[in-house]
Amino acid sequence: MVGNNRRAALDAVRANWNRRAPAYDRFYRDYTQDKRDAWRAAYEKILGELFARRDEPLKVLDVGTGTGFLSTLLAELGHHVTAIDPSNAMLDYARAEAGRRGVEVRTIACGAHDVARLGTEFDLVTARYVLWTLPDPVAALRAWREVITPGGGLLLADGLWHTWRHDGRRLAASLRPGGDHRFLWQLLRDYAQIGNATPHWAGLTPDRARALLAASGFQSGARHDQLLPGNARPVSADFFILGTRPARLP
Ligand SMILES: C[S@@+](CC[C@H](N)C(=O)[O-])C[C@H]1O[C@@H](n2cnc3c(N)ncnc32)[C@H](O)[C@@H]1O
Repeated sequence: MVGNNRRAALDAVRANWNRRAPAYDRFYRDYTQDKRDAWRAAYEKILGELFARRDEPLKVLDVGTGTGFLSTLLAELGHHVTAIDPSNAMLDYARAEAGRRGVEVRTIACGAHDVARLGTEFDLVTARYVLWTLPDPVAALRAWREVITPGGGLLLADGLWHTWRHDGRRLAASLRPGGDHRFLWQLLRDYAQIGNATPHWAGLTPDRARALLAASGFQSGARHDQLLPGNARPVSADFFILGTRPARLP
């Protein structure tokens, strides 16, 4: 059972991302091919390390797929991807993206905390830029742990999205001629809508992510972000990609 407060928080976050979906889609439509290729190459290498002795395609669950950036990359690498997101607007864009790229991605409207209802196990769960936006990340991680097959893993990508310095720089850029003058208004509106609903609205560092992993029964894992060249890193401080597995039960 989900408490009323958590349900309200989840609804607020979903509504916020539904509203942001068109801009998010535009951002990734403008993303250059070389940056996209760099992400795909990085995930290919990471998966080669995490699943060194495996040749068959992986069953992947991409939580909070958004407009399908990572889901389609993983499908291009030959994996069987189930992409979930509670935002229907995001899922519409994700389906369109898979269609444009000519890959198959199964999309399901489902929240991060509800993955048990998918009734399937996965070799790999991925969550790129999602953990920070969840009202109860430990509950979500515990739910993901339950759907990972023995020998399977979890790949998190995240960062610090809102620091004074970082937001200050973006604000300054938005005020320049040609900048996005709506930045400050949008930042304040997003904070008002979900700042209180999410315990990590400012974002995550690898240490904070590892504390969440420890609290939910995962190993602390290894960082892989060095595999991504600087030009493909997102606009966040302390960006990281962390690969881990469920910890052994005592
Ligand atoms: C910053 S976007 C990241 C999208 C995508 N993973 C990517 O890498 O581009 C955050 C995503 O998390 C989704 N999200 C929000 N609340 C969620 C929840 N409770 N469960 C799963 N996803 C959620 C949003 O709808 C949004 O698509």
